[in-house]
Amino acid sequence: LASPLVDQFRRRITYLRLSVTDRCDLRCSYCMPERMTFLPRKDVLSLEELHKLSLGFIARGVTRLRLTGGEPLVRRDVIDLIAALGRKIGDGLEELTLTTNGTRLAEFADDLAAAGVRRINVSLDTLDRATFARITRRDSLPQVLEGLAAAKAAGIAVKLNTVALKGLNEQHIPEIVGWAHGQGFDATLIEVMPLGEVEEDRIDHYLPLPAVREALEQRWTLTPSGHRTGGPARYFDVAQTGGRIGFITPLTGNFCESCNRIRVTATGQLYACLGGSERVDLRAALRSADPDTALGAAFDSAMRIKPERHHFAIDRRGAAPALARHMSMTGG
Ligand code: GTP
Ligand code: 5AD
Ligand code: SF4
Repeated sequence: LASPLVDQFRRRITYLRLSVTDRCDLRCSYCMPERMTFLPRKDVLSLEELHKLSLGFIARGVTRLRLTGGEPLVRRDVIDLIAALGRKIGDGLEELTLTTNGTRLAEFADDLAAAGVRRINVSLDTLDRATFARITRRDSLPQVLEGLAAAKAAGIAVKLNTVALKGLNEQHIPEIVGWAHGQGFDATLIEVMPLGEVEEDRIDHYLPLPAVREALEQRWTLTPSGHRTGGPARYFDVAQTGGRIGFITPLTGNFCESCNRIRVTATGQLYACLGGSERVDLRAALRSADPDTALGAAFDSAMRIKPERHHFAIDRRGAAPALARHMSMTGG
């Protein structure tokens, strides 16, 4: 039997975040520059390679697989990959999920549900159309709302991801959380992370979540929830709305100790940590003479290089990002 993936800090790796493309149809200003340089298509793994890779991970004990990007639904024929992976649910895989910006969800929600996707995370920073256009630099809020309605109608559970941004969506946070709960969606707030150069200095919009939580507690009663997804969010139940709110606090309270995940880019680079540069080239392994052996060895070396924690900070104006790599490379 293939051995499970355990790192040198005895963390069991059961959760793979697989970026299927670094491309995106939005340009969230904290994520990437307007003129983003994308990977040359020839460097990107084929859908067959992504499938093979995923099966390799499942054989080594990965039970949760999240497809990310960039925007996963802009990759052509990605639904074929999702359908193929869906066949592993119950056969090694417990959960197949997606993190998406929602712009193409209206088109894909039924296919996702049919493939076995029960839960998705949708990025949405505001419900105000002008603010949405200001943050994402695209006027796509109507499509995203349509997409969310389609996901709900297809019976897919939704978690909204909202990056908390001072001076941009700070005032809209109660509204978006209340709206999410009214729709039956979970809501999560995220601290902006210093990944990759963008036009702005992220410190200008950085909002530490403890302060946001305090502000929300003036309005609502929050009690710690037992809800766990295997992800970094810490959830609270909101008495007045009957919904759940999660806080993802990589800066004010890192959660690396319980990290269960690794990430792979669309070119097959396994990053052992979102916040590090340590990586292993799975594409080379996949394309070698003996892919199965080479992949096994590559997985093992990833376990040896996974760092104990990241060291993100947003504390100094003009500081270079912690990493040159943008979030869209490794899918968050
Ligand atoms: P589930 O808990 O499975 O719902 O997923 P998730 O919340 O971990 O995933 P999602 O793709 O929705 O990511 C939400 C935010 O969490 C993104 O900003 C990610 O970058 C961030 N995130 C996810 N995993 C990690 C991690 O291991 N470290 C850090 N620092 N951030 C993470
Ligand atoms: N910091 C924090 N979150 C980010 N995201 C993209 N870039 C960043 C960043 N630099 C978020 C998106 C999406 C999730 C996958 O990651 O808004 O919800
Ligand atoms: Fe695209 Fe997501 Fe980055 Fe926004 S945060 S530009 S939706 S990859």
